[in-house]
Amino acid sequence: MKAFIWLNILFLVNIHGALPRVDPLVLINQGLVKGIKASDGDYSKFLGIPYAKVDLDDPFGPAQAAPEFEEEIFHAHDNSRKCPQTGFGPVESSGNSEDESPDCLQLNIYSPSKASTLNPMPVLVWIHGGGFSGGNGNQYETPNLIEQGIVVVTVNYRLGPYGFMCLDDPAVPGNQGLKDQYAALRWVRDNIAAFGGNPYNVTLAGQSAGSGSVLLQLYSQKEKLFDKVIAQSGTPLSPDMFVPGDPDLAIQLANYLGLNTTENQKALEFLAKTHHSLVTGAARSLSMEFRPCNEKSFSGVENFIDTDAYALSNEKKIKNTPILIGNTDMEMHVDGDDFLEKDFFYTRLDEKFSLEPDQLKEIAEIVRHYYIGDRPITKDVESEAVAFQSDFAFNHPIQDTITNLLKDNANPVYAYVFTYVESGEEGAPHGAELDYLFNMNQLDDKVRSVTEHMMVDRLTTLWANFIKYGNPTPETSDLIPVKWSPVTETTRPYLNIVAELRMEERFLKERMAFWELFQSVYGKYRKTVH
Ligand SMILES: *[C@@H]1O[C@H](CO)[C@@H](O)[C@H](O)[C@H]1NC(C)=O
Ligand SMILES: *[C@@H]1O[C@H](CO)[C@@H](O)[C@H](O)[C@H]1NC(C)=O
Repeated sequence: MKAFIWLNILFLVNIHGALPRVDPLVLINQGLVKGIKASDGDYSKFLGIPYAKVDLDDPFGPAQAAPEFEEEIFHAHDNSRKCPQTGFGPVESSGNSEDESPDCLQLNIYSPSKASTLNPMPVLVWIHGGGFSGGNGNQYETPNLIEQGIVVVTVNYRLGPYGFMCLDDPAVPGNQGLKDQYAALRWVRDNIAAFGGNPYNVTLAGQSAGSGSVLLQLYSQKEKLFDKVIAQSGTPLSPDMFVPGDPDLAIQLANYLGLNTTENQKALEFLAKTHHSLVTGAARSLSMEFRPCNEKSFSGVENFIDTDAYALSNEKKIKNTPILIGNTDMEMHVDGDDFLEKDFFYTRLDEKFSLEPDQLKEIAEIVRHYYIGDRPITKDVESEAVAFQSDFAFNHPIQDTITNLLKDNANPVYAYVFTYVESGEEGAPHGAELDYLFNMNQLDDKVRSVTEHMMVDRLTTLWANFIKYGNPTPETSDLIPVKWSPVTETTRPYLNIVAELRMEERFLKERMAFWELFQSVYGKYRKTVH
């Protein structure tokens, strides 16, 4: 304990005193951690700290306690390690697979120089997106948020087959990646004070799959290790975010890789011994999807989530939790002319609803008339196709999530829609806001216009205010001239985040009313696990 205090004083002196600039040194239970002073701001970085350990003989199994450091000092300089990637999206799989290992449970801490154990600052824990199969937490640097007096933690968690296989087997019941995230939250609770963070002033935030994760952390029966929640463009109510687990994934992977077995246990043993790049390669070749799921229960195995998405509820945990939630105005896009090839209204509904073909056809016709009238599916209806896909996968599920959070007495709930676009674009795509919150991959080198700089200042100020006070606009200013009012049981104001910031009411009110009615009639036919 003595050493602990002494080191934190040393840390302070080095920063504020006349001593030469020395890299910060912090003592935690695992040992001494040495970070690096940032060159682009008044803060320190601690990169690649292991918060838990994966047993490489059982890479699909539960994480083990964080290891003590082997060296006298752990040099937190390197976060090149990534969890094995199976994703298809733009951010993932660009990296070098030599940097990948299932033993990837590391996090990065960015701490303002003025933060200390005596002057602890609010904490943002960021869960990255990437469809539960790609992405990593290492690419989110955010000097603009840190400089508002916030300790930022970005987390890596297991992905794809290592994080999100849901088997009918107690060894791999599902949601391992979410359990990894929970271990990271536990680590933050236990250790963040040493880095100048307040463990009782934590905002858990994420985008896309990260946002779905954050909400699942909120709904799970586990202890609540955070105080506020930010959910950007993702919810377990999205039809693609929480799916019936396929109990045969391990067997299929093993078969593909040459083991003839019909037993999970044999398949898992074989996959554990197989190099991760072969396993992820097989998953890619088989176009497998890995998602959170409703876990089967086994005696002696603790479940993280054991209900369907539509049954998620946890008033005890959610009551009086401040929540900031929203999406962009053009979440989905269509790739080239592919969308012309099939009746996407029918196929999409067919994927997600169990109905007799005749009935499904009838319903798909109604949905089609609603969006495109009697027009045929041609290039002319591209924007309506985007509207339908966005409503189906994001816009309505997120409105629905707000409704459910209010039922559980979340309070206050701030809703936004990010619609700011750079000139020439039709709408803000999935992830558009990230460019203003984070300096992703040092993309900041790109020249920003005056308005774009203002958007960076606005986004980071609104988010920082929420992280600090649970209120994004405690006061108005030249930068943020509007007061952001929370939603209520009967009203749905939202902040339209655009060059001319403004409050509006009920995002896409006709379309959302259509899906509200659709859901009240057909919601019960949704495909789920039983
Ligand atoms: C797989 O094993 C089964 C049962 O042992 C056997 O009948 C089958 O021929 C095997 N298939 C291959 C491709 O080896
Ligand atoms: C969280 O931190 C902010 C900013 O330092 C402070 O104003 C607020 O009171 C803190 N909240 C709690 C619950 O400690």
